Amino acid sequence: MFSILVLIGRFMINGVMKDKFKLGLELPTDPRWVNIAEKNIEDILVDHAYCEQKAASSCISLIVQYPEKEELVEMLTPVVAEEWGHFERVVEELRKRGYKLGKQRKDIYVEALNGLLKKGGSRDEQLVEKLLMNALIEARSAERFRLLWKNISDQVLSVFYYELMVSEAGHYKNFLQLAKTYMPEEYVEKRWRQLLADEAEIMKKMEIRGDRMH
Ligand SMILES: [Fe+2]
Ligand SMILES: [Fe+2]
Repeated sequence: MFSILVLIGRFMINGVMKDKFKLGLELPTDPRWVNIAEKNIEDILVDHAYCEQKAASSCISLIVQYPEKEELVEMLTPVVAEEWGHFERVVEELRKRGYKLGKQRKDIYVEALNGLLKKGGSRDEQLVEKLLMNALIEARSAERFRLLWKNISDQVLSVFYYELMVSEAGHYKNFLQLAKTYMPEEYVEKRWRQLLADEAEIMKKMEIRGDRMH
């Protein structure tokens, strides 16, 4: 049954993200990562659970900091619920396997990305920095979920990661669209290309670890 779902998923993917660069990322993940990750699936699931928690928290922070931005509030309110739903589902996958959630691990990737944020500027420029940062994390997560979906032998998790990949790819589009609501398209495109290049540099320097989603 799950094999059929995976096959259907592989077919459907053509319409969603035919090539990974639709996500804009300049540097694909080292293919060795997914093999190491599969061997450390407990660590990956724990790290993943906290990625979902941070995604939900980040959307809540944006709503609280920018309550006057109607499109943002409208678009991100359901995303909070979706991300928290992902958190619940990852915790359930941990539980089914007899693993515990455990403590949050240091998020080296997100820390490095935070260093890219431009200081100062207008309130809208600051908002766009945050939206693009979220878009980057969503894009990289979707790319990693795609690798897990395509490569891991655990069919339940494979289908799970397919679903989540589609969801995070949708969020990536939401954040980019919101950024273009608050600053001119040309400005956003330019800044986005810069951040993609900087993210690729960060990825290049990062150690490949099987206990981290990023
Ligand atoms: Fe998520
Ligand atoms: Fe997401």
